[in-house]
Amino acid sequence: MNIHIDHERLTSEIDALAAFSDADPPAVTRVLFTPTDRKAHAWINARCEEAGLTLREDAIGNTFARWTGSDPRSPAIGTGSHIDAIPNAGKFDGVVGVLGGLEAIRALQRAGFRPRHSIELLIFSSEEPTRFGIGCLGSRLLSGTLSPDAARALTDPEAARLEDVRRSAGLAGTLEEVRLPRDYYKAFVELHIEQGPILEREHKPLGVVERIAAPASLRVTVEGSGGHAGGVLMPDRRDALCAAAELILALEHSARSTGAIDTVATVGICDVFPSAVNSIPARVRFTVDVRDTNLERRDRVLQQLDQSCREVASRRNVSIHSELLNADAPAESAPAVVNALVQACQKHGFDFLKMPSRAYHDSLFMARIAPIAMLFIPCRNGYSHRPDEYSSPDAIARGTLVLAETLAALAT
Ligand code: GLV
Ligand code: MN
Ligand code: MN
Repeated sequence: MNIHIDHERLTSEIDALAAFSDADPPAVTRVLFTPTDRKAHAWINARCEEAGLTLREDAIGNTFARWTGSDPRSPAIGTGSHIDAIPNAGKFDGVVGVLGGLEAIRALQRAGFRPRHSIELLIFSSEEPTRFGIGCLGSRLLSGTLSPDAARALTDPEAARLEDVRRSAGLAGTLEEVRLPRDYYKAFVELHIEQGPILEREHKPLGVVERIAAPASLRVTVEGSGGHAGGVLMPDRRDALCAAAELILALEHSARSTGAIDTVATVGICDVFPSAVNSIPARVRFTVDVRDTNLERRDRVLQQLDQSCREVASRRNVSIHSELLNADAPAESAPAVVNALVQACQKHGFDFLKMPSRAYHDSLFMARIAPIAMLFIPCRNGYSHRPDEYSSPDAIARGTLVLAETLAALAT
């Protein structure tokens, strides 16, 4: 079978999807259930229908586009990723796995391949935590990791309930219907940009992911005492931002001191109240994102943060409350799916690196209900979650070709 990837079409589709954005180009912002996000989904659905795929959208907005195999009752082979984009993001994160997955299916159709197992493109809802504070909403519900009740209780920064927002976006049905049975997929493969510098540094065109790091996130609230920036004397202050600053640096120190490059910690949001030049910060809310391929090491960083909270609260006479939003375990790729990827690389003479994923992906949760693996392509300077995120058309075409070969081998 001679598989040909139409990289020009794929590149133009990636550009077309980037136009569905609430940020000025080259930045892309596409937040869950906004009109822009819904229009982007409708645009992709039309591309899937053009390819003759059968569409289904579930109650949380996961989209399934199926190429039915000759044995339609056997478990399907899944591929896909997400199209939501954090504020001020680039155009490749998630999108390469969705449009690359679609092009892999079209390339197999053009090559005359007839799958025995159905091949299904899955576009996950809300991989990014932007709107409801927790990432991978779609795959958490698909895998039974998040209960429908817990999902319904989620609210966005405007206090809108997930349940109301999804219904206003036109999604019918109940969240109970989202969960997939364990034998739904025979295998699931996600193509994604690496989002880190390793492939580029090692001059490897492809990465075969063996495990996905364990992410955890928290929301921390520090309450101190506000007041006049001129009038309140320094010994009398209970400045919430100064306390938060100590915690943020303590967190950085903990992550840097584990001795492993796989430990990473980030504070990406820090809201100061009342946020006035001449007013002492009375309250600060910040987020914490900690990840590691090793669960114990990740949890040690969380414990150290907890200790720092107690120590800073008592020394600075402020109150500190932290709410754990998620603390997920790492996932291992399935050897059979890894082997299928390796064989596809070897068939085309492509060098590859076996590596972990330090970013999380929907595959982290799909691993709980299906054998998974991921394929990484390099991105320039390792940049991601920023407007200058870039993967070359060649890199994308190579990844898509290996994905197509792998899907064909698994679906036979
Ligand atoms: C996903 O975008 C992540 O934060 O790893
Ligand atoms: Mn992302
Ligand atoms: Mn992603």
